[in-house]
Amino acid sequence: MSIERCQIVDALDPSAVGRAAQILANDGIVALPTETVYGLGASLNSLPAISRVYRTKGRPLDHPLIVHIAERADISRYAIDPPALALQCAEYCWPGPLTMLVHRSPMVPDSIVGGRATVALRIPANDTTREVIRRLGHAVAAPSANLFGRVSPTTAEHVCNDLGPAVDLIIDGGPCIIGLESTIVDFTTPVPTLLRPGGMPVEDIESILGVDLIPDRGPSRASGMLPIHYQPKAQVCLANDPGEVASMVAELRVAGKKIATLDHVDRLPLLASTLYAQMRHADDALMDVIVALLPPPVGLGRAIRDRLERAAAH
Ligand code: TXA
Ligand code: MG
Repeated sequence: MSIERCQIVDALDPSAVGRAAQILANDGIVALPTETVYGLGASLNSLPAISRVYRTKGRPLDHPLIVHIAERADISRYAIDPPALALQCAEYCWPGPLTMLVHRSPMVPDSIVGGRATVALRIPANDTTREVIRRLGHAVAAPSANLFGRVSPTTAEHVCNDLGPAVDLIIDGGPCIIGLESTIVDFTTPVPTLLRPGGMPVEDIESILGVDLIPDRGPSRASGMLPIHYQPKAQVCLANDPGEVASMVAELRVAGKKIATLDHVDRLPLLASTLYAQMRHADDALMDVIVALLPPPVGLGRAIRDRLERAAAH
C-alpha cells in the first residue's frame, strides 16, 4: 500500500499533538510512536474507539490492551493499592520499556481488560506521545499497531502498510529506538512474575527489585505469549551458532530456496531495533526462508530469542 493513502504527520510538526489529541477526544484512533513499537491508540474514555482498535487489528476481544499514561502520579488513577515493588520499578524504569500489571481501578473500562481485575500500565519514553496523553487529559489504551499475529511496526510506514486508511492519523516519530515490545511484569502475584520478556532487560528489573522474577506458568494470559505470534510470511529457521547458519544456508540453497539471514547478530541493541524491519524486508523481497542465529539468553537477547522462537513456531 502506498503511504499517500494514510494520514501521516511528523512528530515535530507543531500541529501533531493537537490534531492527535482532538481525534482521540472525538472517538478516533491514532497510531503513536513509542521507544518500543508503534501503538494504535484510543482514548480510555471512548468505547467506540476501543472497539475500533480491536476491529482494525482483527484482535480477539479477550486480549487486553496496555494503558499508556504520561506521569507516575497517574498510577493511582488507574490502579488500586499498587504494591511498593511496582512503585519502585516505576521510579527507575519509567518512562521506558516496562509494563506493569496491577489491580485496576473503576476508571479502567471492562472492555479493554477483557473483564479481568488487573490493568497493564506503562509510561512510554516518547515526548510527543506523552504530550498527546497530557493534552487529552486521560490515558490512552494502545496495542501494537499491527494486524493481529503479525510482526509489530517500528516505523510509520509499517503501520500504514498494515492498517492503511483505517487509522485516522499516524504520528511519524521515526524508527523506534528499542524496536521490541515492552517487558511485562505482573505485580499482583506474591513475587512479581515475568509475563513477557521485552525491551527492559530482566536482569535490570531484578537488580532494581532485589528479587528474581518468577516465570509465567499455566495458560497464556497475554496475546504476545501465544506460542505462534510475530510471524513473517517467510519461514523462520533457527540456528544456535554461526556454523549452523552456514550449513542451513548451504542446504536451503541447494533446495532452490530464496534465503535471508539476519544482520547485526553480534550487536544486540541494533539487532533488536531492526529485527521486525528485517523480517518485513525479507517478506517484501519474497524470501522463502529467514535463517536466524539465536543470541545468548541474556539482556536483550532474551526478548530477541523469544520473538524468534514464536516466529519460527508452526
Ligand atoms: O511496547 C509495548 O508494550 C507496545 C507499545 C505500543 O506500548 N504495546 C504492545 O501491546 O505490545 P500489545 O497489545 O501488542 O501487547 C500487550 C500485551 C498483550 O499480550 C496483552 O495480552 C497483555 O499485554 N496484557 C495487557 N493487559 C493485560 C492484563 N490486564 N492481563 C494480562 N495481560 C495483559
Ligand atoms: Mg502486539
